[in-house]
This record gives sequence, C-alpha cells and structure tokens, in this order.
Amino acid sequence: MGGAGLGREPTVKEALLWAVAVLRGAGLDDPRASAEILLSHALGVSRGRLLACGDDPLPLDKWEEFVGLVERRRRRVPLPYILGSWEFMGLYFVVRPGVLAPRPETETLVEAVMEELSDRGIRRPVIADIGTGCGAIAVSLAKYIEGAKVVAVDISPFCVEVAKENAERHGVLGRVEVLLGDLFEPLRERGLLEAFDVVCGNLPYVPREAIGRLQPEVGKFEPKVALDGGPEGRDLLTRAALEAHKFVKKGGFCAWEFGAGQWPWVRTLLKSAPGVRRIGMRRDLSGRPRVALAFY
Ligand SMILES: C[S@@+](CC[C@H](N)C(=O)[O-])C[C@H]1O[C@@H](n2cnc3c(N)ncnc32)[C@H](O)[C@@H]1O
Repeated sequence: MGGAGLGREPTVKEALLWAVAVLRGAGLDDPRASAEILLSHALGVSRGRLLACGDDPLPLDKWEEFVGLVERRRRRVPLPYILGSWEFMGLYFVVRPGVLAPRPETETLVEAVMEELSDRGIRRPVIADIGTGCGAIAVSLAKYIEGAKVVAVDISPFCVEVAKENAERHGVLGRVEVLLGDLFEPLRERGLLEAFDVVCGNLPYVPREAIGRLQPEVGKFEPKVALDGGPEGRDLLTRAALEAHKFVKKGGFCAWEFGAGQWPWVRTLLKSAPGVRRIGMRRDLSGRPRVALAFY
C-alpha cells in the first residue's frame, strides 16, 4: 500500500505533513500537535525523537496504524480516548470513553489543596473527592501527600471502576477508597460526619443548553453526566455547598472547581453556605478564577 498519495510508504516528515493537512481540513485547532502526538504514539517514541528522525521511512504496519489514528482524530474523537491515557499532575491516568479526561485547570485545585494543608500544618489528612471521574484529583493527592487517606465518590459505576484502576496503577489503592453514589450519600451511609480535613471536587458546571455549543471533542464525546450542571450550571455545586458542612471537620476546608465567569455566583453561594467562616479563590494558569475555597 502506498501512503499519502506517494506510491510508497512515507517518511516521518511526509506522514506528518499528510496528517496535518487532513486534521486542519477537519477544523482542529491543533492539527500539528495532534499529528505529532498520534505518530509518536504509533511509533512508541517521544515527540522530540520523532522530529529528529524526519527522513526515516515508516514501516508499513506503523503507517497503517497511524492512518487509523488520524481517521479517529479527524472525526474529532478526543486525543485522550484515542491514546487511552492522559497526563495530569505528572502522572498518567487511564481514560476511556465514559470518563472525562482530566484538564490542566484542575491541577490548580490539587495544588491549592496541597498548599492549604501545608500552610495549616495538617499531616496525614483525610480527604473527600466528590465526582472523582478517572480519579485524577483523588489519586494525585494520595500520591503527593504522604499518609493522606482519600475517599472518592462518583455517581457513574464506570468512573468508579476506572478510578480504582488508576489508584492501583499509581500504587495508592490502599489509601484511596472509591465509592458509588450521589454526592455525599455514600459518606452519610458510612457515618462519615465531620470526618474530613478537606472536601473537594470538580463537579459538572456547564449550563445544560451550552453543552451543544462546546467543541465537538467535548460536546459529542465526553459524558453528559460529567458536564451537565443543570439549567444554569449551578445545580451540583449548590447542592454540595449546602451540605458540605456536615462532612468537613471544624478547621477544615472545601475546594471546588468552577467554570469561567462563575466566580460571582459561587462567591455569593459560599458566603451564605452553612458553617463557612471565610472564603478564598485561586486562579488558573490563564489568570481566570477557577477554584473556590471555603473554610469551616
Ligand atoms: C467534571 S467531571 C470531573 C472528573 C474528575 N474529578 C476530574 O476533575 O477530571 C465530574 C464528575 O462528577 C460525576 N458526577 C456527576 N454528578 C454526580 C453526583 N450527583 N454525585 C457524584 N458524582 C457525580 C461525573 O460522573 C463526573 O465523573
């Protein structure tokens, strides 16, 4: 089989040029990055190494594999689902359709929790991660905070399985318990009242009618249950803020991720939420308000 219309297998450089043209034609913002990531994946080499061997011909089987990967990306399948794994906080998480791929903005939440715990001198904290998805927040906190115990909750049975798999992959399954249920319900069932130094989460916050306007990778492929925050995007965070005081210890805190432009209503919500003494906010790397802190 010839490739990229050349009548022979293409070189690395030619394969990349072909893929960039295909992906640009499909309307991707990042055709070059996608092409390089997919070819590195097919060849099992780093992106740096890939660019250093641009004149090497691709073996036929690798070329065919690459064509298949590019075709999926052309249909706007998110890169994390194609690769089956995605990086968060320097760790690689198993990600599959049915589970939201962790976003760089969410690292702001993990970092805020670690800093606040360290500032308060809280060692071996007990943490709840509500809406854990693939377990990105729960597993990172368990991995980076010595002796931390984390209870992670998700309403999706599939997410619970994937989060357990990620906890095992990173060697923290002994300190991360993953429970199925609606928000705090599994904690209530276990009698975990005022049991947590930290309650945190990245709950769905996209206004329902905006989901159809998201880029196709998100709106078409990522699970609605991970995005849909109700008519105004406020349902889950509002429920969580009104109940959190029952589960956080006195002297503990909550950290909640929220969407672009939502800080004014989140601030109002938390200021009047039961048990909250003081609130704070952290910005993401683009400078946008992203994480709300509520101190109890
Ligand atoms: C935005 S995703 C975040 C996933 C992960 N924490 C992350 O940051 O990558 C929200 C998660 O909340 C879960 N979820 C939605 N409604 C929930 C509820 N009522 N109770 C518990 N989890 C819920 C979804 O299944 C999804 O995994």
